[in-house]
Amino acid sequence: AKQTISVIKGDGIGPSIIDAAIEILDAVGCEFDYEYIDAGLAALEKTGELLPPETLEAISRNKITLKGPLTTPVGEGFTSINVTLRKQFGLYANVRPVKSFAGTKARYDDIDIITIRENTQGMYSGLGQVVSEDGNEAEAMSKITRDGAEKIVTFAYELARREGRKKVTAVHKANILKSTSGLFLKVAREVGERYPDIESAEMIVDATCMKLVMNPEEFDVIVTTNLFGDILSDLCAGLVGGLGMAPGANIGEDAAIFEAVHGSAPDIAGKNLANPTSVILAAIQMLEYLDMGDKAERIRAAVADVIKSGDRTTRDLGGEHGTTDFTAAVIERL
Ligand code: NAI
Ligand code: MG
Repeated sequence: AKQTISVIKGDGIGPSIIDAAIEILDAVGCEFDYEYIDAGLAALEKTGELLPPETLEAISRNKITLKGPLTTPVGEGFTSINVTLRKQFGLYANVRPVKSFAGTKARYDDIDIITIRENTQGMYSGLGQVVSEDGNEAEAMSKITRDGAEKIVTFAYELARREGRKKVTAVHKANILKSTSGLFLKVAREVGERYPDIESAEMIVDATCMKLVMNPEEFDVIVTTNLFGDILSDLCAGLVGGLGMAPGANIGEDAAIFEAVHGSAPDIAGKNLANPTSVILAAIQMLEYLDMGDKAERIRAAVADVIKSGDRTTRDLGGEHGTTDFTAAVIERL
């Protein structure tokens, strides 16, 4: 039977970059069925809910979702849709690879780093959020469990082994956040001992920021808690040319959601200006997850050649073209 993929086009630039990715998947001969589902603003308008039950049902039934960025409305009562999806489906691993492409305006040309971000705990667990009545005090709780830490660190080492990577760096702040980051680091050390074939390193998060900027070649796989992973993965995107170049996979036991790291970019939405590369790279992650690595590689090579040659690239890549021209240039090379 054909694989069915749930597709959330998303808000802002979402529909244009998702259309680009799907045209490319079709052009490379992926015979997927797509089930289009609504979330975010589009869903709110149609159903009055940001995440309607039919959407949740399709995500769990099809197991694989390709997702555009969603605008979380600012205001009372709206929690981030992304955070909700990650918690609801137990998508505990956020896999954010960055790799240099020749021809971008990035400062480095040899970056190849995967950040594995714990996706459901830590400062983003949403627990214990209190603001005092006078508005002068605010609290939030960070929660790390042994199970959660063990799952994410094991995921990182297994990925390292599977992909022939040499080193896993656990990033933490255990010197100050003794309880939470302390537990994460303790578990990371224990798990690391089970993988003698892979070099284990550990680094404090602030020093990691400095080192990533100055000596990024020291890094291979990074595994870290939720908040640090959010920040570090954007830093890593900056090493390879910006948010337009950075995909992310949210992986759980029973479902996976593939998306760009960036948001809905309201400043350029509807102008055919968005660089679709991040969502195309997310589609490549999806193909790899589905054991369709040969097709993934063909798409990657085509994208690399477009960027390198500068044939019809978007403005953030130094070009003068739009989303649709860029996509056509990729498809011509498949
Ligand atoms: P953003 O990532 O949408 O935009 C930041 C800057 O990067 C903007 O100048 C934008 O034009 C540029 N940019 C982003 N993607 C680009 C692309 N593909 N090509 C060219 N330029 C690109 O972040 P912002 O403005 O802070 O957030 C906008 C909305 O997106 C918010 O409502 C936020 O909640 C939401 N958001 C959603 C995410 C998701 O669904 N995964 C992730 C991050 C933010
Ligand atoms: Mg982020």
